[in-house]
Amino acid sequence: MATAMVIGAQWGDEGKGKIVDYLAAKADVVVRSQGGNNAGHTVVTGGKAYPLRLMPSGIMYPGTICVVGTGVVIDPKSFLEEMEKLEAQGINAKHLQISTRAQVVFPYHIRLDEAEEMRKGSRKLGTTKNGIGPCYADKINRIGIRMCDLMDKEVFAEKLKYNVEQKNMLLEKLYDMEGFDYEQMLIDYLGYAEKLRPYVKDTNYTVQTLVREGKNVLFEGAQASMLDCDNGTYPFVTSSHPTAGGACIGAGIGPHMMQNIFGVVKAYSTRVGEGPFPTEQVNEIGDRIRDIAHEFGTVTGRPRRVGWLDARAVRYAAALNSFDYLAITRLDILDELEEIKVCVGYEYEGKPVKEYPADLKFLSKVTPVYKTYKGWKEKISAIRDYDRLPARCKEYLADISKEIGVPIGIVSVGPSREETIVVKDVF
Ligand code: GDP
Ligand code: IMO
Ligand code: MG
Repeated sequence: MATAMVIGAQWGDEGKGKIVDYLAAKADVVVRSQGGNNAGHTVVTGGKAYPLRLMPSGIMYPGTICVVGTGVVIDPKSFLEEMEKLEAQGINAKHLQISTRAQVVFPYHIRLDEAEEMRKGSRKLGTTKNGIGPCYADKINRIGIRMCDLMDKEVFAEKLKYNVEQKNMLLEKLYDMEGFDYEQMLIDYLGYAEKLRPYVKDTNYTVQTLVREGKNVLFEGAQASMLDCDNGTYPFVTSSHPTAGGACIGAGIGPHMMQNIFGVVKAYSTRVGEGPFPTEQVNEIGDRIRDIAHEFGTVTGRPRRVGWLDARAVRYAAALNSFDYLAITRLDILDELEEIKVCVGYEYEGKPVKEYPADLKFLSKVTPVYKTYKGWKEKISAIRDYDRLPARCKEYLADISKEIGVPIGIVSVGPSREETIVVKDVF
């Protein structure tokens, strides 16, 4: 049995897509287990960038099975568009499987997401407005519609009727917005159902079987640990569990099947949307990193908030996920900097803060404690051998690994598949 898992260790957009695409060369199957089209994973290969949202990043390999698992929320319209775009680029989804248990996103989820953000005003979360929160809320509320329901016209019609009536009441009476036409939605979704039908399978069974057969199974996390609904900076989180534990549930397997858990850590930090960000740099250095790195959201186009690497937060993520290895990404972005900072802890009123704060009021008052490193001032993107990295760069890497308490497995020095240094070849 060989499994590996790729999990975001910060606030998303760490480069999970790039790391999954790299590791997928050896995978028989790549499994997405949570989130929806709020994710934007970029894979760069053959000089072309492929932005993926619901499609697992293993799709670039024609023989690899790609699973959209049980814990995922699927907007069929958006997913079919994504599949068509990929097909137009010569990438087909022949080996795609979609879980019978995955939840379906409807236009009322999207409208409710927008309505609630508007209603919150200055207290908005800054969601991607893809209906993710309302869809997961329906799942937890046990009124969600699953892929297997969508495949059965009678069951679907009944469940949709209940939901459209309920959502129209909410939209019209609470939010003063227009509701939806049930008949039209039924027709639209039955159309999507026929297009998706060939792919809808019991993916729990598929994944369990492949793991048992000793195949190489790679799990692809979306979002990131600090956006975890329970353990992230709640309520400024997403509505799923983008952690190793969440991946077990979302893929339908037990924790003993999880090996080689990679925490993907961008060499600095970014955050899209609202919420606490202790190392944020709203200043010249933040602007400079954003410009070098072109940090704008792939899903919403929003400028990403930028800050120094928060090794304190990543240490917390390492504990939440039991990371085996770190995959450090976008290290090349720091090439030009004279000075690089890393937050190694938080202080409150001059005293170290031991636990990662749950209370956001408290978190907003902590002071990050920084270690400062001299920059290596050298281009590193062409380097493929860890030993050839500049001495200051290696010192920086060794130190962050020590602060986080997890060994480094991969160092990424550019967006493309080739721009990768393998420190520990484990999968
Ligand atoms: P994800 O959501 O975690 O998959 O990350 P995104 O794809 O949203 O954002 C990461 C961005 O960084 C993408 O544009 C990647 O192509 C790019 N990227 C990944 N690794 C590296 C790297 O090591 N260096 C550079 N310069 N870019 C990278
Ligand atoms: P990938 O997989 C970065 C953020 C949103 C918002 C919060 C809730 O590309 O790393 P949601 O629409 O999920 O209800 O929004 O979560 N968010 C992400 N930030 N990368 C992502 O995905 C994200 N997915 C959601 O910006 O703050
Ligand atoms: Mg992204």
